[in-house]
Amino acid sequence: MNDSSARDKWSGRMAFVMAAAASAVGLGNIWRFPYLAAKYGGGIFLFVYVALAVTIGFTLMTVEIAIGRRTKLSPLDAYKSIAPKWQIIGWLGMAVPALIIAYYSVIGGWIVKFLAFYAKRLFEASPCPVTVAESKALFSDFTGGGSLQPLACSAVFAFCTAVLVLLGVRRGIEKSNKIAMPLLLVLCVAVAAMSLCQPGAAEGLAYYLKPDFSKFSWKTVVWALGQMFFSLSLAMGIMVTYGSYMRKEDSIPKCVFRIEFFDALVAFLAGLMIIPPVFTFLGEEGLKSEGPGLMFISLPGVFGKMTLFGASIGDVAGLLFFALAFFAALTSSVSIMETVVSSLRDRLGLGRTAAGMIVTVYMFITLVPNSLCFANDGVFSCEILPGMRLLDFCDFAANNIFMPLCAFLTCVFAGWCIGPNWIVREIGIREGRFRLARPFAFMVKYAAPAAIALIFTFYILKELKIVEM
Ligand code: PHE
Repeated sequence: MNDSSARDKWSGRMAFVMAAAASAVGLGNIWRFPYLAAKYGGGIFLFVYVALAVTIGFTLMTVEIAIGRRTKLSPLDAYKSIAPKWQIIGWLGMAVPALIIAYYSVIGGWIVKFLAFYAKRLFEASPCPVTVAESKALFSDFTGGGSLQPLACSAVFAFCTAVLVLLGVRRGIEKSNKIAMPLLLVLCVAVAAMSLCQPGAAEGLAYYLKPDFSKFSWKTVVWALGQMFFSLSLAMGIMVTYGSYMRKEDSIPKCVFRIEFFDALVAFLAGLMIIPPVFTFLGEEGLKSEGPGLMFISLPGVFGKMTLFGASIGDVAGLLFFALAFFAALTSSVSIMETVVSSLRDRLGLGRTAAGMIVTVYMFITLVPNSLCFANDGVFSCEILPGMRLLDFCDFAANNIFMPLCAFLTCVFAGWCIGPNWIVREIGIREGRFRLARPFAFMVKYAAPAAIALIFTFYILKELKIVEM
């Protein structure tokens, strides 16, 4: 059904690297990486993370990109076209973004709200810096208050995502990345610099970077692995899709290293932005929050305490931080939507506009229950499983079940069904001879599936409350 000659193509190597890096750099880098680094040994966590990224992460990303580029298909049809019996991987690779898309705009909407909050403050005379208690009240009133505001903010975010995807690979995704990615980097450096100018930053920095072997255990490795898969956007069908738009003359391994470098750089900078000031102003206790609690409650309070030459810089820091979070989240959101759109196009032979509109409608419909499920009362406020709201359920199913399963099956498929040489041949088109072919074969056949099986087991044991993580 797919006419490969009409397939979208990146305009060059940098366009592909930028798009894949834009997908990889997301909320995971900002609200989770610094927390994990602080909890599991600082410098030692960074070291383990990088070591895993250049071995196991490199392997899986290479496999996914090569499958996409060779088949010129998105996940749903790529696996089917190689071995029909393995099309389950394509379905899993499509299920993960389809589930994530159903709630990612909700979080995007919260970012929009905080961005607007800080932008408004800049134009008002707001001498009183924001405190943790105020940000907590703002966040809980906004999400739990029962108004339609969260829905409206999420709709703005979803609309931005849909516009970029509907504009297409070159006019929408590539062009927006050209602006968003450099800007994101500049904003990261600016906020990190503000954080490092605060009193007590040196101790916070030491806490972040000094290896603390007393905090090192098997948990360090398990969490670093899980974080790496999520952060590199692996097993979500994204790299297969983006790989299918890649030109044959570009080197896959070189691109993969660049994407990983960029992703790790932003994660590292996020640590510089967050750990020293949180450590200074909220103490070690403050470093125990992650995710929305860190981003929407602790950090605004921490920014509120930041000063430069005696003047409060909380509002500027908050505005810059939420702007960078917006770009990071938007480019990731675009990548999941593009994956679903591309799969629909390949399977149903639809044009971009038709497939894009279908996914847009789906995104907006799922947005309603997911964005209103935080209200303290109302139709959507109930838990669908004990202790689990709809959004938590989508998140759990996508990240803890489908993603590890997809990653594991992808490795088994590449290592044992088509064999590593299939991938090595695709790499060889540009490389001539792939020098890392032997370690790559070992990784894809043994090390990567074993590592994924390990994290999957831990996720299940953790859920069953057999181990504490
Ligand atoms: N790599 C992304 C992150 O760190 C993961 C992601 C990609 C999540 C696309 C959602 C959508 O946040």
